[in-house]
Amino acid sequence: MILLTGGAGYIGSHTAVELIEAGYDVLIADNFYNSRPEVLDAIEEITGKRPALEEIDVCDVEKVDAMFEKYDIEAVLHFASYKAVGESVEKPLMYYRNDLDTLITVMEAMKKHGVNNLIFSSSATVYGVPETVPLVEGMPTGCTNPYGWTKYMSEQIIQDVCHAEADMSAVILRYFNPIGAHKSALIGERPNGVPNNLMPYITQVASGIRPHLNVFGDDYDTPDGTGVRDYIHVVDIAKGHIAAVQYAMSHKGAEVVNLGTGNGYSVLDIVKAFERVNGIKIPYEIAPRRAGDIAQCYADPTKAEKLLGWKAEEDLDAMCKDAWEWEKNITK
Ligand code: UFG
Repeated sequence: MILLTGGAGYIGSHTAVELIEAGYDVLIADNFYNSRPEVLDAIEEITGKRPALEEIDVCDVEKVDAMFEKYDIEAVLHFASYKAVGESVEKPLMYYRNDLDTLITVMEAMKKHGVNNLIFSSSATVYGVPETVPLVEGMPTGCTNPYGWTKYMSEQIIQDVCHAEADMSAVILRYFNPIGAHKSALIGERPNGVPNNLMPYITQVASGIRPHLNVFGDDYDTPDGTGVRDYIHVVDIAKGHIAAVQYAMSHKGAEVVNLGTGNGYSVLDIVKAFERVNGIKIPYEIAPRRAGDIAQCYADPTKAEKLLGWKAEEDLDAMCKDAWEWEKNITK
């Protein structure tokens, strides 16, 4: 059985689908802090199989221990964490407490119960303000906000444990910018309140929930002046986890791997692609730069292909189309 902490969330739910379709038994541990129980119904509808569920907070040592007693867990995919950059600046203790505590609690249970395979959700945010792009795994790291530091510290904790425990295996996945949704439009990203991220904001403008998009800065040192990112289809991200689990099960030690496409697109590239693919106008206004944003961030995805045999397959048009199909499904 594969345990997905935070498995009802955006990336976790897509990964649960891919795992089930690849023949794995899936156990989701989630407290539905930023997700909904109906996600389990959707996963069942897509795959024909309902994942096992433990509705717990993975900071709860006793409940996590009992879960590891109850199930025969072979590998853990640890998604459970808070993820809003701005909120982490306002409430750093909340972020350090939760995002480090969940990891340490899960890793202690793994050690106690002899579970040696861990896949961890890290982020390209650990590259801080990059000196050059594309970003390669060995490049210097450093962060600009508490959320980023929790990822940085978590990576260090995992590296240290793998160093100390000869049987331990971990793949640390640095996600770039996951967007889009499952082709069924039954699962996708569902932010609470005003979206922080670009694509959910655009889909809410498209559906009339918000009047226009604010483009945060048009004076960056990029081809059109707007920020450049490596947007990657969430189903590709999910498939990257399957490759990572398979790798972890047959190797020892810790590896850090970028999950990106290697393509950089600007904010205006995304707006134009969304408009063209979906035939909907996205009104936008140029707004001041957002604090903490960088000009460009995109991956060198070579290591993922060499080590895991994984490569992103979906293009930007598919990301825009699938994001919109999902939004239409939840706002109809
Ligand atoms: N942007 C806008 N308007 C918006 C939202 C975003 O112009 O309303 C711009 C941003 O300025 C940036 C780009 O769109 O240039 C992407 O912004 P997102 O918020 O979608 O994504 P970020 O790259 O800022 O952040 C993402 C994740 C973080 C992660 C970071 C680094 O949300 O969790 O990538 O990998 F830390």
